[in-house]
Amino acid sequence: MFSSINELTEADKSLLLEARSATQKSYAPYSNFHVGAAARLQSGSVLSGANQENAAFPIGMCAERVVLATAASNFPQEPVTTMAISYESKGGPSDHPISPCGMCRQTLQEAESRTGRPIKLILGGMEGAVYVIESAGQLLPLAFTSTELK
Ligand code: THU
Repeated sequence: MFSSINELTEADKSLLLEARSATQKSYAPYSNFHVGAAARLQSGSVLSGANQENAAFPIGMCAERVVLATAASNFPQEPVTTMAISYESKGGPSDHPISPCGMCRQTLQEAESRTGRPIKLILGGMEGAVYVIESAGQLLPLAFTSTELK
């Protein structure tokens, strides 16, 4: 836990700034909750995306899964090493971290097991405390994984 973005390494700080900026790409007319995510790949390239809602509510995509799908589709050989997540809400301040929903945790877990690499998470709002979690899998104990399907 860090009290502000200024306590992060330069690499983590720049990724969180990307995630903050990616909130602008959100399409969230129903929740007015704009989430941005930025992923750093093993090569150092950075991709970002945002939540995309739909009038048929369950179709909406979270920012995290938008970015994971973009990375896997365009750079299938390159593991995501770090993902930063931020948000801006019309309903209140963006002064504390949010953490990925259950569906995104499962998707992050699959990406980790598929590539054999941990995905470090950097969670922070537009201001305030930042959480750094060394592996997304830590957020999903007793996960259901592909080993059950063999
Ligand atoms: N959302 C995300 O994009 N990521 C999260 O980690 C939590 C929630 C989106 C889904 C929906 O568009 C809006 O935020 C409100 O739930």
